[in-house]
Amino acid sequence: MALQNINPTKTKAWKKLENHFTEIKPVEMKTLFQKNKNRKEEFSFQFEDFNLDYSKNRIDQKTMDLLLELANECQLTDAIEKYFSGDKINTTENRAVLHTALRNKGNNAVQVDGTDIMPEVRETLAKMEQFSNKVISGEFKGYTGKAITDVVNIGIGGSDLGPRMVVESLQFYKNHLNTHFISNVDGDHVVEVLKNLNPETTLFIIVSKTFTTQETLTNALTVKKWFLQNAKESDIQHNFVAVSTNVEKVLDFGIDANNVFTMWNWVGGRYSLWSAVGLSISLAIGFKNFDNFLKGGYAMDQHFKNADFEKNIPVTLALISIWYNNFFGSESEVVIPYTQYLEKLAPFLQQLSMESNGKSVDRNGKPVNYQTGNIIWGNTGTNVQHAFMQLVHQGTKIIPVDFIGFKESLYGNKEPHNKLMANFYAQAEALYAGKTAEEVHLDMKFHGDLKKINALLPFKVFEGNKPSNAILIEKLTPKSLGSLIAMYEHKTFVQGVIWNIFSFDQFGVELGKELAHKFLVK
Ligand code: F6P
Repeated sequence: MALQNINPTKTKAWKKLENHFTEIKPVEMKTLFQKNKNRKEEFSFQFEDFNLDYSKNRIDQKTMDLLLELANECQLTDAIEKYFSGDKINTTENRAVLHTALRNKGNNAVQVDGTDIMPEVRETLAKMEQFSNKVISGEFKGYTGKAITDVVNIGIGGSDLGPRMVVESLQFYKNHLNTHFISNVDGDHVVEVLKNLNPETTLFIIVSKTFTTQETLTNALTVKKWFLQNAKESDIQHNFVAVSTNVEKVLDFGIDANNVFTMWNWVGGRYSLWSAVGLSISLAIGFKNFDNFLKGGYAMDQHFKNADFEKNIPVTLALISIWYNNFFGSESEVVIPYTQYLEKLAPFLQQLSMESNGKSVDRNGKPVNYQTGNIIWGNTGTNVQHAFMQLVHQGTKIIPVDFIGFKESLYGNKEPHNKLMANFYAQAEALYAGKTAEEVHLDMKFHGDLKKINALLPFKVFEGNKPSNAILIEKLTPKSLGSLIAMYEHKTFVQGVIWNIFSFDQFGVELGKELAHKFLVK
């Protein structure tokens, strides 16, 4: 069954939130902390090795109660039930949305059109495991009989961003294989990647759900041409594999039927890294680690499905985000992980969130008269502190932040890690507390005459009262990364449910594609 069709702005909770917003808007978070000594504990909770502290937000208990009322009036429980049980909630494409089945570690059947899809899912995972083991051990050979040293993932959007981000994020767990990514239809970049590769020892994975994407097919053909400078057509089977739903087109390309990893229409591109689209991940870190990554996703699924909404991380993050987006009018959110490993998280989240919720027509097909998907951006701390944080601290916009930190570093290098985490805490504190004119004055009073101090003072004041969430995780592991990604997937889902939009289609990318064909100079 389809998702219900409820305009959030017509709910009772929305009206109450509008009234409540006028009460909360002038309130300083500092006052809320002063009034409630247990605020930090009351607005924090733990799920496995994740701790969410959302106390530094412009909310009080009433805000959260009303947001939960909104979620209930928008039938979130019903939507979650339909999401996990294979209902065709991707209505405009008449498809189920079952990336959660790809990481389902339970024994339950998951039905699509009356058929349990779990046997096929497990079969593909088994094929990935076997293949990864063979490539990593050197048993799988390239066309001249040499073991594989390099893997190139050719794909774009969901067929690139997820695997690229996970491979980079989990490089600590990597084996000897070098992994490369080609996505942009930029011939220069393709040459740059190929120039250091030996065709004999390189495995190319062409990843395209549709196998019709212009960028991917163009790049795949460029690579094939380069490969055939030394090899024969019949050698393709030794160095090329594909991941797609479109087996016919893959075979036309010359790839051997045994080298095709299937995926399904019930997996959206931006949610597909859990499927064979993640083959480059499984090759880079080994299947066991890939499976732990799936387990992390599954653990977050169980939490999202079963935890009360008050203590549910994706629900809490989504509701707070809606609060800023639809009541404070903030247009963007910034995600700042305090680990260099997660440098590619923001581009991944941009597709996840913005391709899903960048919609202006509701589930009735009518234009919405409220804000939907927000702009997601970010990069790693502490680098961003020397780049864009000025604007977040002293600019004119309200930009809620997600700070993501890890208690332990992977190599155990305590001193730099302590400094990194000191910055993680300091940024949240600075945004929240700011610095008053009195405090600035105190700091400056021994550094110049009063006239100079007064002239500089306004520029040195930090208004504060700027919101952030702190997500603190024990350690960056395949499992915790799996949970983190699933957390953001479910946050995106909850937002789409409440905004009454379809989060699983992406018609907005089509017009540019059509026009690019027209503009193509032959
Ligand atoms: O950008 C549009 C899009 O359809 C994405 O949703 C998808 O991830 C990407 O193109 C790649 O599509 P495919 O895997 O079919 O090549």
